[in-house]
This record gives sequence, structure tokens and C-alpha cells, in this order.
Amino acid sequence: MEKIKTQIQKGNIPKHIAIIMDGNGRWAKQKGKPRIFGHKNGVTSVRESIEGCAEIGVEYLTLYAFSTENWNRPKLEVKTLMSLLVTSLKKELKNLQKNNIILNTIGNIDLLPKNAQKELFEVIKQTEKNTGLTLTLALSYGSREEIVNVIKNISEKVVNNNLKIEEIDEKIINNHLYTFSLPDVDLMIRTSGEQRISNFLLWQMAYAELYFTNTFWPDFRKKNLFNAILDYQQRERRFGKTSEQLETIHE
Ligand code: FPP
Repeated sequence: MEKIKTQIQKGNIPKHIAIIMDGNGRWAKQKGKPRIFGHKNGVTSVRESIEGCAEIGVEYLTLYAFSTENWNRPKLEVKTLMSLLVTSLKKELKNLQKNNIILNTIGNIDLLPKNAQKELFEVIKQTEKNTGLTLTLALSYGSREEIVNVIKNISEKVVNNNLKIEEIDEKIINNHLYTFSLPDVDLMIRTSGEQRISNFLLWQMAYAELYFTNTFWPDFRKKNLFNAILDYQQRERRFGKTSEQLETIHE
């Protein structure tokens, strides 16, 4: 494992990694266990990913923990996921402090059970003075819903003469997203073999490198994260330019 870590180039660490944590249910099914067994084991992978990112100097990690569509899952599964969130937050606070991590959240948090909201805001408050990795949990999050809200908020400003149509640009839109304080995503990882974006950070991923692995989320460890980063480091990010143009910029 240490060997993989030493191969990572220090000067080319993705600033913002986003992860679609997928495959908890299938992992559990393979073991003849209920889906929630997979979610419970997924917490270890969350911890490993956070620590791995903190160790190598990733500045932002965003985890898709619960989508707007996930509300349609069986009631008991939703309830158990919410209580898993609460117990994990309580249990992990010490670890977050130890690793200097700032907790942040995106999504329609008002829809979460009151105790989950309370615990979230408590941990956010307790970690706000930290200076290390910003860990963002996407909860009750949907990218299209986020964009609809941006349009509503901007329109309201225009109607009320607080903003001119000509002033609307990418920066204004960025400032109205849930992710207003985060940079664009550099690397998006999805586990479990599915190759989709599933309504996650559509605007913010415009130039992200996409990495898909067959590993189910509960089996995802630091070494899997470091492998994804090594893969990212082998790619040439052109942002619409040619390779030759990039060479002259680097010279
Ligand atoms: C996707 O697997 C996983 C989720 C919808 C929930 C993710 C939650 C955790 C990892 C645990 C709690 C999180 C935190 C932040 C403490 P799936 O159920 O869609 O798997 P499947 O596609 O195999 O059915």
C-alpha cells in the first residue's frame, strides 16, 4: 500500500474529489445479508477515503451519501440510513477533529429527520475552525433540483431589479449553487461497475476526469483511492485546448 502512495506525484494532486459510493446492496447480497449490512460496512470505506485524502493533501472531498431519488427506497432502509448517518457523525467527530477536517453539506437538508439535521449542524459548527480537508456530504441531493433552485433565485433577483440579465455569467451561477464555496470537481470516482453520473454535481463536473471501478463500496480502501489518483495523474487535462498548446503553457 505504501508503495502505491509513494508513486503519487505531490505536485499533481486533484484538488476536489467527488465519489459516488455505490454497491452496498449488492455487496451485502453476495454475502447473503440484508442491504443495510452493506451500508454499515460502507462507513469504514468512508473513513478510509477521508483519511486517504487528508494524508496526501486533497483539499475537498464530496461524498454522494443520499440522493433525492433515494427517498423512494423502502421506508426501513431510509430510516436505517438516516440513523447510520447520526451514529457515524457522533462516533467520527473525534476523528474529524484529529484530522483537522471541516464538515460541510449540500442538498435539501430540510427534508432530513430533525435529529439528523441537529447532529449535522452540530458537527459542522464544531469543525468550522479546522483548516484541513473540507468534507462535503451530499444529502437529499439532486443536481437538477439544485440547478432549478439556482434559476429561481437568480430570476427573483432580476425581477426585483437586484441583478441585470447581462450580468448573469458562470460566476453568478456558481455563487448560487449549493457548492458555492467549493472548486470544480477534478476527479469523480464511482464504485461498483456502474458507469453513470446519476444526477450528481452536473455543473461542477464539466471538466472532471471520470474513474470507474468494479470494487463495491464496502470493499473500497485507501489503496483503491490512491489507484484512482494514480490513474488521474496519467491523464492529460486539456480543458478544450490542444496538447501542443498545453506544452507551451508548461514550458
Ligand atoms: C449506494 O449503494 C449507497 C448509498 C445509497 C448510501 C451510502 C451510505 C453509506 C456509505 C453509509 C453512511 C454514510 C455516511 C456519510 C456516514 P446501493 O445501496 O445503491 O447499492 P446497490 O446499487 O448495490 O443496491
